[in-house]
Order: sequence, then structure tokens, then C-alpha cells
Amino acid sequence: MAHKSNYVPHSAFEKWLDERLPVVRLMKDQFIDFPTPRNLNYWWTFGGILIFCLIAQIMTGVVLAMHYVANEALAFQSIEHIMRNVNWGWLIRYTHAVGASMFFAAAYLHMFRGLYYGSYKAPREILWILGVVILLLMIATSFMGYSLPWGQMSFWAVTVITNLFSSFDSVIPGLGTRIVQWVWGGFSVGNPTLNRLFSLHYLLPFMIAGVVALHIWALHVPGNNNPTGIDVKRSSEALPFHPYYSIKDGFALAVFAIVFAAFVFYAPNYLGHSDNYIPADPLVTPTHIVPEWYFLPFYAILRAIPSKLFGVVGMFGAIAVLFVVPWLDSSPVRSLRYRPLLKPFFWAFVATCVVLGYLGAMPPEGIYLLSARLATFYYFAFFLVVLPVVGRVETPTQMPGSITEDIMSNEQRRRAALEGGTPSGAPAAPEKR
Ligand code: HEM
Repeated sequence: MAHKSNYVPHSAFEKWLDERLPVVRLMKDQFIDFPTPRNLNYWWTFGGILIFCLIAQIMTGVVLAMHYVANEALAFQSIEHIMRNVNWGWLIRYTHAVGASMFFAAAYLHMFRGLYYGSYKAPREILWILGVVILLLMIATSFMGYSLPWGQMSFWAVTVITNLFSSFDSVIPGLGTRIVQWVWGGFSVGNPTLNRLFSLHYLLPFMIAGVVALHIWALHVPGNNNPTGIDVKRSSEALPFHPYYSIKDGFALAVFAIVFAAFVFYAPNYLGHSDNYIPADPLVTPTHIVPEWYFLPFYAILRAIPSKLFGVVGMFGAIAVLFVVPWLDSSPVRSLRYRPLLKPFFWAFVATCVVLGYLGAMPPEGIYLLSARLATFYYFAFFLVVLPVVGRVETPTQMPGSITEDIMSNEQRRRAALEGGTPSGAPAAPEKR
């Protein structure tokens, strides 16, 4: 949100710098004074949490890379070396591995928040699209990272996913096979494959950091959306980011860090697969090849479609459809608070994603396969049918005229509730002796 700069350089050096490179002014305007709607709830703390996750992944990853060896004969052992011989290596590795899961959990919550409160709608379409680009980069990065220990799941996940390109053989004979061999750097998954996966796994997080900078820039032009979806109309409806939201984000981050630490210290392998502690063996295929939990919904879609090519199209389509969400939703109302018809469809969509996650871990047969097909159908129907149609037929509920009106009516409701009984948190009546 464009606002007047309050920065006043104090020392001669600050003044000198401000006239040449106003970086201190930029930081103060954008991260200290930035006007933020006063009614943001805890769902708005995940952006800050995601920044923390990205920094934690890069810092732990750089240290891991100092000890890791990207060679098919040594990779598995180098991970064991990190776990057993490197000082605090176990902590750095577990923080990085659990961190990937925490990063995805936070990103998914951040996205569902965006969908619920209509944060993808004008004027925030670019902000949303940049978010989807970040998601794609995160998927690529974690897929490549998972391959690096060169355990059984690493090896077979790479084999299954890279082989998806061979589906292009059904479009132009031979094309898919050529792409797969080009990606592998040989005639099977091997040392050249591992080397390029490592190189790209190191590169992509820095690209994510670049796109995150654009994401925040695109956020700071229109400013934050808020739970009402109504624009800020006067300055009293916003607060400076610091200290009001720095403290709120800090508190949420502390709670998030406790959950993170609980996994790292008490269940570091809970979210992984035990087969990845078996060194990669091209001659033995695991009974069930399953990806990490955060890919399971997409994996379920891939397997639900009875054609390799269309399975791949469906899986990538499940993410690609997110790019056009701002134009699929036909309603002028942003927040689902005031959209009674869309709300149940939204919760059914959330449930569908969870169910797809469960089905992705089950064998693709019988009732599991049927359920995965139904869930895949609803996943796409939500975006391609529900969002365009519901916006046209729905009558939104009465919306407050402004953020202030919403806050005041909440306050009135709270007071009315208190008048009916003892206010919670109020001092107890004096004791009668
Ligand atoms: C590395 C990953 C990401 C980082 C570091 C990040 C960072 C942020 C931050 C700091 C904010 C402002 C605070 C907040 O609203 O929580 C934000 C807002 C937003 N992000 Fe992200 N984000 C990431 C991924 C995504 C993804 C994957 C999407 C969607 C596909 C997305 C969509 C949005 C939207 C729509 C907003 C505006 C929210 C509003 O004001 O209502 N972001 N992001």
C-alpha cells in the first residue's frame, strides 16, 4: 500500500546513504511502518512462518552440502557420516528433512487461507500467481532433495517420476524416451542423474528466494487483504506492521517452532519412509513406491486416471489450474464469510484434498481407486464448475460497510453476550465473609 515515508536519517552517514541507496528507508517503510489492516487473524501469520522455513532450509542445506557427496557409490554413506560423525550433523540433517515437511504444511495452510478469504482476487492476482510459481519451485526442490540420500525410495521415486516423460511417446513416438534419457544423462537413473539433481537442488532455493521477494513486492503494492475482504478505507483501519504484527507473527512462529522441534527431537523419521534407510538397489523394486506426504494428493490424481499421458496431464493440471483461479471465481465478494453457498463447497474441497492424500498412500485398486477417481473429479469440478457457477447464482449475506463497522459490530455482540453473564476474564465478585 503506498504510504508516506516516515524515515528521517539521523546521522550524517545515514543521510549520505539515503541520498545514494535508500535501503534503510525501504526497510523502515516496508517492514516497520507498513500499514497493515487491524483485523488480521492468525491465518495471516503463515507468510512470516514461510520466510522462516525458507531461511532455515537454506542455512541447514548449505551446511549439509559441505559434508554430502553427490556420487552414487558414496551418497548414502555420506548421509550416515553426517548423522554419526559430523558434530551436530544429526540435528542439522533432521532439521532439514523435517523442515521440508513443515515448509509444505505452512504453504498449504497459507494457500487455503488465500482461497477462503479470496486473497487471489483483484488487485492481488499477480501476488497469487507468484505464489503458485513458488509452489512449483518448492515441489521441484523437495523432489530433488529427497533423491539425494540415494536410498531405495530416493532411487525409485526418481525412476517413477522421470519416467513420466516417456508418456510423450504416445504423442510423438520416441520423443518421450529421448527426453527421459536426456534427463537421466544415460540409459538409466545413475551417477549423472544424481549429480544434476544435487546441482539443481542447491540452485532452486535461491530462485525461490528471488520469487519470494517479488511476492512480497506484489503484496506491498495493494497491501494485505483481511478477513472481511473489504478494502481499508481510512488510516485508522490499519496499524504499523511493527510492533503490532511483528509481535503476533513472532508468537505464531514460536508455537510453530515448538511443533517443528517436537518432530525433530521426538519423531524425526515419522514423516519419512523407512525404506529410505536401505541403500538404492536398481535390481530390487520396493513393494509400494510412495512419495512424501505432501505429494500424495497429486500422486493419487496421477494414478486415478487410466492413461499414463492423461495421468501426467491431470497431475500437472491440478497445479496449473491454480494459476487461473482469479479468473474462474465469478463473485465480486472476496471473503467466504459472506458467501453462504460457496462455503460448504470449499470445505468439501479441503476434505477432498485430505482424502486424496490418504488415497495416494493406498494401492491403486478396488475401492481406493474408485474413491480416488471421484475425488479427482471433485478437485477439478471445484475450480472449473463450482467457482464460476456459484459466484453467478449466490446471494451474498449482508456485509459490513467497512472494516471499522465489522470491528464495532463484533464488539457490540461481545458486549451483549457479556451482559447476559459474568464476562470471561473479569475479576471475580468480592468474597462475602
Ligand atoms: C516460500 C513460500 C512463500 C512465502 C515465503 C510467502 C510469503 C508471504 C508473506 C510474508 C505474505 C504476507 C503475510 C501473510 O499474508 O501471511 C504472503 C501473502 C500472500 N501469499 Fe504468500 N508466501 C509463500 C507462498 C505462497 C503460495 C504457494 C501462495 C499461493 C499459491 C501464496 C499466496 C499468497 C497470497 C494470496 C497472499 C496475500 C494474502 C492476503 O493479504 O490476504 N503464497 N505471502
